Amino acid sequence: MIVEPAPAKLNLALHVRARREDGYHELETLFAFVRDGDTIRLAPAERDGFAITGPFAAGLDGEGDNLVTRARDAFRGVFGAGEPVTITLDKHLPVASGIGGGSADAAATLRGLARLAGVRPDDPALSAIAAGLGSDVPACLAGRTMIGRGRGERLTPIDAPALPVLLVNPGVGVATAAVFAAWDRVDRGPLPVGDALSIALDGRNDLEPPARALAPTIDAVLALLGAAGGVKLARMSGSGATCFALFDRVKDRAAAAAAIRAAQPGWWCLETALA
Ligand code: C5P
Repeated sequence: MIVEPAPAKLNLALHVRARREDGYHELETLFAFVRDGDTIRLAPAERDGFAITGPFAAGLDGEGDNLVTRARDAFRGVFGAGEPVTITLDKHLPVASGIGGGSADAAATLRGLARLAGVRPDDPALSAIAAGLGSDVPACLAGRTMIGRGRGERLTPIDAPALPVLLVNPGVGVATAAVFAAWDRVDRGPLPVGDALSIALDGRNDLEPPARALAPTIDAVLALLGAAGGVKLARMSGSGATCFALFDRVKDRAAAAAAIRAAQPGWWCLETALA
């Protein structure tokens, strides 16, 4: 049995620079990962199988068009069929929420299948498969703090401090394509230059205004996170609706989480840290 963590992805900053001819957008983003997320388990079996467990299993429809089975099939298209395998996705991250759940699951599937098949994790063919599955999948395959350019697939590693993070999702799903389509097409400039923390602090998420217009509950999430004691930065991740807050101290993160759980018991809160 192979166990591959599929940690949540954050965009500590996300600058949208231009709309492209192919319908995608040119980005400059600071990707980071946290310590917690989904888990992918792979086991050799007599026949292929796929199952979803965990608190957010109900948000996904078994077999269907899951990114996990698409990753498996794309891997086999390049590296050969290999032995049958059962894959279990333990789903702890909310679906369609800007923290890359599906992308992280696909990337973890690719890493696991690569281990089973003896393919090196840095094999360029693996990154090419990842890029074909989605804009965030190459970053999730690498799974470390990086600056992403292009659609998000041109990656440069950068070091980041292991700060405490609180993730909050108000339970509204936001469609990525709709948020990008609602961007006002104003280029507000490149990522700042500097270390990861100053890029995050001085940067923006240009998808925040269109996402807030489509899902006004995000305003309430950012207001609560921004008002927390000891918060360094509160921002939306990706196309939303999950927002994050960075803290220096675990104590402040815990107090913020307790206050938000009391005020909004239906919201999803995850106390974690940058990986
Ligand atoms: O690449 P992925 O399938 O994850 O992207 C989902 C949608 O998000 C795309 O169909 C596109 O509308 C939008 N997108 C974009 N520019 C990017 C990444 C995603 O417009 N760089």
